[in-house]
Amino acid sequence: MRAVVLVGGFGTRLRPLTLDIPKPLLPVANVRLLEHVLASLGSAGVTEAVLALGFKPEPFFEAFPEGVCAGVKLIYAVEPEPMDTAGAIGFAARFAGVDDTFIVVNGDILTDVDYASLVRFHRDRGLEGTIHLIPVDDVTQFGVVEVDDSSCVTRFVEKPQPHETTSRFVNAGTYVLEASVLDRIPVGQPLSIERVVFPAMVADGQLAALPTEDYWVDTGRPETYLKANLDLIDGSRSLILASVAAQAHLDASAVVTHSVIGDSCDVGDGAIVIDSVLLPGAHVGPGAKVERSLIMGRVNAGASVVSCVIGKDGIVEAGATLTDVKIP
Ligand code: GTP
Repeated sequence: MRAVVLVGGFGTRLRPLTLDIPKPLLPVANVRLLEHVLASLGSAGVTEAVLALGFKPEPFFEAFPEGVCAGVKLIYAVEPEPMDTAGAIGFAARFAGVDDTFIVVNGDILTDVDYASLVRFHRDRGLEGTIHLIPVDDVTQFGVVEVDDSSCVTRFVEKPQPHETTSRFVNAGTYVLEASVLDRIPVGQPLSIERVVFPAMVADGQLAALPTEDYWVDTGRPETYLKANLDLIDGSRSLILASVAAQAHLDASAVVTHSVIGDSCDVGDGAIVIDSVLLPGAHVGPGAKVERSLIMGRVNAGASVVSCVIGKDGIVEAGATLTDVKIP
């Protein structure tokens, strides 16, 4: 089976981390996000993934020079201009000649959903599309999906007030689609799947939904990207990954707690790192303290940063105290 993986977004909310590295190539517990996604798809029987690329395609070619990621063959479909979600799916699927049932995933979602059972459910329901749903506590921040007793989607409600819907399920960013859905997507035109194509399929009674309670996180915001990293080292998920890369250098007197340390990171003597991610190449100077932060650049000696995002060129001056800041 083939999958279209949407990886062409700008990753604006994760800036400055995404200024040089596209979001799907950022590491989550020292393994690229895209590798996590493709490993799950591969274990569900996906043999070929079409990467729907737009913004910064080159780092993807460099990251996977053999055209294979987590054992899945890659096809690169590079849009001439941003096509939005449906436009990107249409472009990528046509580029790869998709003519059968296929899976679509947002490349920034980490989930333990069983893609194979999603496909089975889709085939059983026999509609044009199936969408994976996930429950949330606060519906007011999401596009909420309402479903009837036969698992048919009846309505999408964008960011409703709690009294405006009885559903607590939202679009989880994974779909199983029939190739006929491509006929609903005009060629060469930006279009949203969530706002245009799915509502049209609902009107035709052609969209099913499968709610599950699996682990799920949209890594697109600094808080959720941090959470996705820490969930992989603290047993929140079935998989537990090493939290310190082999090539990292930690001084013997540094204290690192509940954090992920990437390749070539340098943590100086007496430095403290708590609930944080140091991306490859980050530097934390002697006596510096880093808490609940994402660091790609330098935190110099004696500085203290809390809930900060420091990009590759970001420098926190020695002795500075920063809270809730992004640099640059
Ligand atoms: P933000 O800029 O922070 O909102 O992130 P984003 O650009 O990734 O947008 P968003 O998280 O809403 O996108 C959801 C998924 O669709 C992500 O996997 C994006 O990579 C992808 N995506 C969004 N727009 C496009 C597009 O125009 N083309 C392609 N190929 N993918 C897109």
